Amino acid sequence: MTTLCHIDDITEGKTRGFELGGLSIIALKKEAVVYLYVNRCPHLGLNLEFQPDDFLNYDETFIQCSTHGAMFTLDSGECVLGPCKGATLQQLGFSLEDGQIILNEPLPAAPES
Ligand code: FES
Repeated sequence: MTTLCHIDDITEGKTRGFELGGLSIIALKKEAVVYLYVNRCPHLGLNLEFQPDDFLNYDETFIQCSTHGAMFTLDSGECVLGPCKGATLQQLGFSLEDGQIILNEPLPAAPES
Protein backbone atom coordinates (compact mmCIF):
# COMPACT_ATOMS: atom_id res chain seq x y z
CA MET A 1 0.00 0.00 0.00
CA THR A 2 1.58 3.25 -1.15
CA THR A 3 0.24 6.63 -0.10
CA LEU A 4 0.89 9.39 -2.61
CA CYS A 5 -0.46 12.40 -0.70
CA HIS A 6 -3.64 13.90 0.72
CA ILE A 7 -6.21 15.07 -1.82
CA ASP A 8 -5.91 18.60 -0.38
CA ASP A 9 -2.20 18.61 -1.28
CA ILE A 10 -3.23 19.06 -4.93
CA THR A 11 -4.61 22.48 -5.82
CA GLU A 12 -7.93 22.52 -7.69
CA GLY A 13 -7.36 22.85 -11.44
CA LYS A 14 -3.61 22.28 -11.14
CA THR A 15 -1.10 19.48 -11.49
CA ARG A 16 1.62 18.24 -9.24
CA GLY A 17 4.55 15.94 -9.91
CA PHE A 18 5.71 13.10 -7.68
CA GLU A 19 8.65 10.71 -7.78
CA LEU A 20 7.95 7.31 -6.30
CA GLY A 21 10.23 4.29 -6.51
CA GLY A 22 11.83 5.60 -9.68
CA LEU A 23 8.43 6.28 -11.24
CA SER A 24 7.47 9.83 -12.17
CA ILE A 25 3.78 10.60 -11.62
CA ILE A 26 1.44 13.44 -12.64
CA ALA A 27 -1.39 14.16 -10.21
CA LEU A 28 -4.20 16.41 -11.44
CA LYS A 29 -7.29 17.69 -9.65
CA LYS A 30 -10.15 18.99 -11.79
CA GLU A 31 -13.60 19.76 -10.37
CA ALA A 32 -12.61 17.89 -7.20
CA VAL A 33 -11.77 14.70 -9.16
CA VAL A 34 -8.20 13.40 -9.01
CA TYR A 35 -6.45 11.80 -12.00
CA LEU A 36 -3.05 10.12 -11.86
CA TYR A 37 -0.86 9.46 -14.89
CA VAL A 38 2.61 8.13 -15.45
CA ASN A 39 4.78 11.08 -16.46
CA ARG A 40 5.96 9.58 -19.74
CA CYS A 41 4.98 10.98 -23.12
CA PRO A 42 3.85 8.20 -25.51
CA HIS A 43 5.77 9.93 -28.33
CA LEU A 44 9.38 9.53 -27.15
CA GLY A 45 8.98 8.37 -23.56
CA LEU A 46 10.14 11.67 -22.09
CA ASN A 47 8.79 13.50 -19.04
CA LEU A 48 6.14 16.06 -19.95
CA GLU A 49 6.53 18.99 -17.57
CA PHE A 50 7.57 22.51 -18.49
CA GLN A 51 8.77 23.17 -14.95
CA PRO A 52 8.31 21.21 -11.72
CA ASP A 53 4.57 20.63 -11.10
CA ASP A 54 3.65 22.42 -14.35
CA PHE A 55 2.08 20.00 -16.86
CA LEU A 56 -0.77 22.08 -18.30
CA ASN A 57 -1.12 24.18 -21.43
CA TYR A 58 -1.52 27.94 -21.18
CA ASP A 59 -5.27 27.98 -20.49
CA GLU A 60 -5.06 24.83 -18.33
CA THR A 61 -7.44 22.80 -20.50
CA PHE A 62 -5.00 20.04 -21.49
CA ILE A 63 -1.90 18.29 -20.22
CA GLN A 64 0.80 19.35 -22.67
CA CYS A 65 4.15 17.78 -23.46
CA SER A 66 6.88 20.39 -23.20
CA THR A 67 9.04 18.71 -25.86
CA HIS A 68 6.85 18.71 -29.00
CA GLY A 69 3.58 20.11 -27.65
CA ALA A 70 1.31 17.02 -27.70
CA MET A 71 -2.00 17.76 -25.95
CA PHE A 72 -3.71 15.21 -23.70
CA THR A 73 -7.23 15.39 -22.30
CA LEU A 74 -7.40 15.91 -18.56
CA ASP A 75 -9.90 13.15 -17.82
CA SER A 76 -8.58 10.31 -20.00
CA GLY A 77 -5.03 11.24 -20.94
CA GLU A 78 -5.79 10.72 -24.64
CA CYS A 79 -3.57 12.63 -27.02
CA VAL A 80 -5.83 14.75 -29.23
CA LEU A 81 -3.16 16.87 -30.92
CA GLY A 82 0.49 16.27 -31.71
CA PRO A 83 2.83 13.55 -32.92
CA CYS A 84 1.29 10.79 -30.76
CA LYS A 85 -2.37 11.63 -31.52
CA GLY A 86 -4.61 8.72 -30.48
CA ALA A 87 -2.15 7.37 -27.88
CA THR A 88 -2.83 7.79 -24.18
CA LEU A 89 -0.92 8.55 -21.04
CA GLN A 90 -0.83 5.58 -18.70
CA GLN A 91 -3.43 6.14 -16.00
CA LEU A 92 -2.78 4.89 -12.46
CA GLY A 93 -5.51 3.41 -10.30
CA PHE A 94 -5.95 4.50 -6.72
CA SER A 95 -8.39 4.58 -3.84
CA LEU A 96 -9.22 7.36 -1.41
CA GLU A 97 -9.04 6.58 2.30
CA ASP A 98 -9.73 9.47 4.67
CA GLY A 99 -8.63 11.84 1.92
CA GLN A 100 -5.34 10.00 1.36
CA ILE A 101 -4.61 8.92 -2.21
CA ILE A 102 -3.57 5.26 -2.03
CA LEU A 103 -2.03 3.85 -5.20
CA ASN A 104 -3.17 0.47 -6.47
CA GLU A 105 -0.39 -2.10 -6.59
CA PRO A 106 1.61 -3.13 -8.43
CA LEU A 107 2.94 0.12 -9.83
CA PRO A 108 4.16 0.04 -13.43
CA ALA A 109 7.89 -0.48 -13.81
CA ALA A 110 10.01 2.65 -14.00
CA PRO A 111 11.68 3.16 -17.38
CA GLU A 112 15.26 1.98 -17.67
CA SER A 113 17.75 4.80 -17.79
S1 FES B 1 8.16 13.77 -26.62
FE1 FES B 1 6.13 14.45 -26.12
S2 FES B 1 5.33 15.16 -27.99
FE2 FES B 1 7.32 14.45 -28.51
